Amino acid sequence: MKKVITYLFLFLFALTLKAENGHNLWLRAKGNNPVHVVCTKKSATLNLAVLELNQGWRGKDGTTVTLTVKPDKLIIGDGFKLSQSAIQANTETGVLYGVYELLRRQQTGETIKDEIINPSYERRILNHWDNMNGSIERGYAGKSIFWRNQDSLAVTDADRQLWQEYARANASIGINGSVLNNVNASPLVLTSGNLARVKAVADVLRPYGIKTYLSINFSSPKMTGGLETSDPLDPKVIKWWNEKVKEIYSLIPDFGGFLVKASSEGQPGPQDFGRTHADGANMLADALNPFGGIVMWRAFVYSPTDEDRAKQAYNEFINLDGKFRDNVIIQVKNGPIDFQPREPFSPLFGAMKKTSVMPELQVTQEYLGQSVHMTFLSTMWEEFYKSETYQEGAGSTVARCTDGSIFPQKHTAVAGVSNIGLDTNWCGHHFLQANWYAFGRLAWNNNLTSEQIADEWIKLTFYQFLDEEKGGASFVNEWNVKFLAPVKQMMLGTREAAVNYMMPLGLHHIFSSNEHYGPGPWYGPARVRKDWTSLYYHKADSLGIGFNRTSSGSNALSQYEEPLRSHLSNLETCPEIYLLWFHHLPWNYKMKNGRPLWDEICYHYDQGVQQVRGFQKTWDKLEFFVDDERFVQVQSKLRDQSLNAQLWKDACLLYFQQFSKMPIPFDIERPVHNLDDILKNEIRRR
Ligand code: GCU
Repeated sequence: MKKVITYLFLFLFALTLKAENGHNLWLRAKGNNPVHVVCTKKSATLNLAVLELNQGWRGKDGTTVTLTVKPDKLIIGDGFKLSQSAIQANTETGVLYGVYELLRRQQTGETIKDEIINPSYERRILNHWDNMNGSIERGYAGKSIFWRNQDSLAVTDADRQLWQEYARANASIGINGSVLNNVNASPLVLTSGNLARVKAVADVLRPYGIKTYLSINFSSPKMTGGLETSDPLDPKVIKWWNEKVKEIYSLIPDFGGFLVKASSEGQPGPQDFGRTHADGANMLADALNPFGGIVMWRAFVYSPTDEDRAKQAYNEFINLDGKFRDNVIIQVKNGPIDFQPREPFSPLFGAMKKTSVMPELQVTQEYLGQSVHMTFLSTMWEEFYKSETYQEGAGSTVARCTDGSIFPQKHTAVAGVSNIGLDTNWCGHHFLQANWYAFGRLAWNNNLTSEQIADEWIKLTFYQFLDEEKGGASFVNEWNVKFLAPVKQMMLGTREAAVNYMMPLGLHHIFSSNEHYGPGPWYGPARVRKDWTSLYYHKADSLGIGFNRTSSGSNALSQYEEPLRSHLSNLETCPEIYLLWFHHLPWNYKMKNGRPLWDEICYHYDQGVQQVRGFQKTWDKLEFFVDDERFVQVQSKLRDQSLNAQLWKDACLLYFQQFSKMPIPFDIERPVHNLDDILKNEIRRR
């Protein structure tokens, strides 16, 4: 009988599923209960807070909710004090965040008790790598929402509406800053036509508590300002920047500041004039300081020298520690190379003790399957935040080294390279909205678990909020068991699956080309600089595979603090997930489970493929719970992911086998491609 009732519920449920294009993200739920909101002040931000409560209330009918802006010394920055019927904050934005928290808890069924909730970082910023012509560097979800092309700078109502939806989504997860243009910045962004557009964006984002920032080109004074140089110590250059900053603040009084990629991958910088990164950053910081602006100066620097690329950023910046103004933050990518499926943390975290340092994460999946693969990045970021640096003894995790818990930073911040574009569902894949969500949630609270984040996101994104009408608790239980649990399990396994079928055991950067999607362990054309080839990173030869970064190799390990350095150097204690990142080992090296290294590599690749097949099976079983549109799109993406995972496995195993000369263990599935065909296709694609 119970079964019959259950099926009846499910049947009724399926009938009520509405078409969903995903545009409403995690903000799909509408409230249907009346609420009385008391807010003594009126302002654009507080009005939004009131509106959100009125539209989203799912608490007790007729509750009176009080919103108060009143300082409390236990509330920090944008934090807030929350209860069932009151929100208090130091700032109006804090009140708005409290409202989103309250509504989210009502929707997800989380308990609402009296508590103070403070953010981990003061600035939680999305970096858009959007070009002025509307394209997006490493963007896989359509064109830019901010830029069209330089001949059409007029702002339309549709632009404003989209920017508002974007702002609301960000505010709902605590993001409070947006850098509107690519780090490979066009100097044109600072011309008056473009600044007018930036102002228009800033005006829409402001009520949602979001500050606008720009990436700048260090050569702007020369390229667009008519000066002969962009030397940061030249008085005319300093004057030019001072005036430009003044102009920006006259348009955007709460402008956040500049993000700078300098002396990196061909971008101009202070080193072109024999100056240091500190000279460059401080000059800009001085211009911004009177207005409260900051400089986020990127540490992503490396050049094609003999020095291991993984060591270069540290070498460049460590001696400058303490030499930066206190409105400069050094923005450091999570790993020492470049957003690989798995990297150890960059040794700069915790090592720069007298300078503010902020993590840069990549939400867009340049190296993790782009908008095709379902890869929930929260687990990767959780691993990163929790990484132990030992810089100030045990407990010096990356999170604590960057959020002000250990070092007295004037500013704390975290950046995520955005994955959104003009695609209707914003991210090119319904499940990749979860990465935008996770970035924001972890920026707000770097202690959250991926499990909790996935739980919230799935409920907000897929639940139909029909529980009361459709059978109450019994239906909710059914949904939790049959949908929530398997989807959560799938999401939590996706990143490890990607590591397995792409680059297990510490392998990294073995893509087929600069496109960074398919496999290419053989990639190493003579015209391409060595540190942009796969051969540089895996170093496979007849003797073995892996990058020796111990003291007998590049000694990148010397940049890590003890006891981590010794742990990673010692094969007995080095976690196998980082094995080939730090060591070059013979093919028959014995792993902890007794298998030869070659066999272990094979098992990982095969396991990755099997995991994706598992995701397909999981998803297909859930058809009943999902509207057609999203179901079919996700199903088709998973199919492509599966094909791509198979290609990764076959390409890497068949290529590396030429060196190992060992058989692929007989109990795993055979490759279905042959290497010559893969190579031929790959060459045609380039
Ligand atoms: C990577 C990426 C580039 C990007 C660069 C950066 O190298 O491939 O497209 O410009 O990172 O972060 O600056």
